[in-house]
Amino acid sequence: MNNHKTDASWETSHLKSNNDWIFTITKAEKKHLGDSIKSLYEEDKSLFDYSPDEFDFGSSWDTIAKALNQALHGKGLAIVKGLPREDLSHEEFRLLSWAIGLRAGVARPQGLTSQYISAVRNIGTNYRAANGRGYSSNAKLDFHVDVADLTTLTCFNKAKSGGQSMVSSGITAQNYLIKERPDLAETAYQYFYFSRQNEESSDETSFYGLPLFEEENGSLFCNWNRNRVQSAQNLEGVPKLSPAQRETMDVLDEILRRPELMYTMYLEPGDMQILNNYKMFHSRTSYTDFKSESQKRCLYRLWLAPPDSIKLPESWRDFYRSVEPAAVRGGIRGQSYDKVHAEFDKKQAKFLNMKIDTRPYKD
Ligand SMILES: [Fe+2]
Repeated sequence: MNNHKTDASWETSHLKSNNDWIFTITKAEKKHLGDSIKSLYEEDKSLFDYSPDEFDFGSSWDTIAKALNQALHGKGLAIVKGLPREDLSHEEFRLLSWAIGLRAGVARPQGLTSQYISAVRNIGTNYRAANGRGYSSNAKLDFHVDVADLTTLTCFNKAKSGGQSMVSSGITAQNYLIKERPDLAETAYQYFYFSRQNEESSDETSFYGLPLFEEENGSLFCNWNRNRVQSAQNLEGVPKLSPAQRETMDVLDEILRRPELMYTMYLEPGDMQILNNYKMFHSRTSYTDFKSESQKRCLYRLWLAPPDSIKLPESWRDFYRSVEPAAVRGGIRGQSYDKVHAEFDKKQAKFLNMKIDTRPYKD
């Protein structure tokens, strides 16, 4: 059990004193990118039919690529500001989010319906239900990781109030646990069991086991989601949490929310947040929407497998389906993954020179 001092073991004071994780594209680049999206957008075209090389990012790609690198290999978190927003419709902005993903990695499915891009907006979902998901509710969320190496979240509309985004470094939290409660830091290396929230595909069980923290090749891999651990306690075959595990969960959440560790921000329209999900835990506050449909909070979310990913611990195989470096891995395959999805994955893997697992899908 080691202390990990890396760029990702930040405290909020570090993020405030050095903004090398915030990237802004120029006005000229913004215009260029917006024009490219507008000229390529076709109402009836499926997102799967766009190719990564048809979009003209101009010099904005250098900036976006630096942000992706900072998130994946550096601080675990990056923001790109200044993406074209004002002149783009919902659908065009969605395409912009998708186009960035096409260049950056292989988008992964995100739930029961195997959707490859999610509109993060409130449609009244009950987050705490057995099949609850946070992205489609307006609830305050527990600190958690998403199910892919990287998440990109591009903001189209802010909420009327609330919806503040919070990020806390899992690496820093584990360093604090080691310092303050070495007994619980040890417990965090045990397996915890997480519900798949009724979204499992036919070849998956209803839950998966994974330690909260695990070291491999000198790196610390972090994983946390209280809601899924609590849901799993109601599933048959899931071991009951020990008192030490329950205490670890409580102390971990308390550490994550300390003001010196929890960085809070409001994403503005045209901002893209990028997170490394095995280093960062994220959350958001509850929110209230504007009445008008066109003004409601809306962010477009992608889960990405990037081509320069590192090997994951073997214990992550059940969670990500593959642990190999530079592999198409992660996602929630869900129950509608079919030939179209498989062909897209293969096409993208080829474009990015990545390894792909060709386990069967429903034809
Ligand atoms: Fe999330």
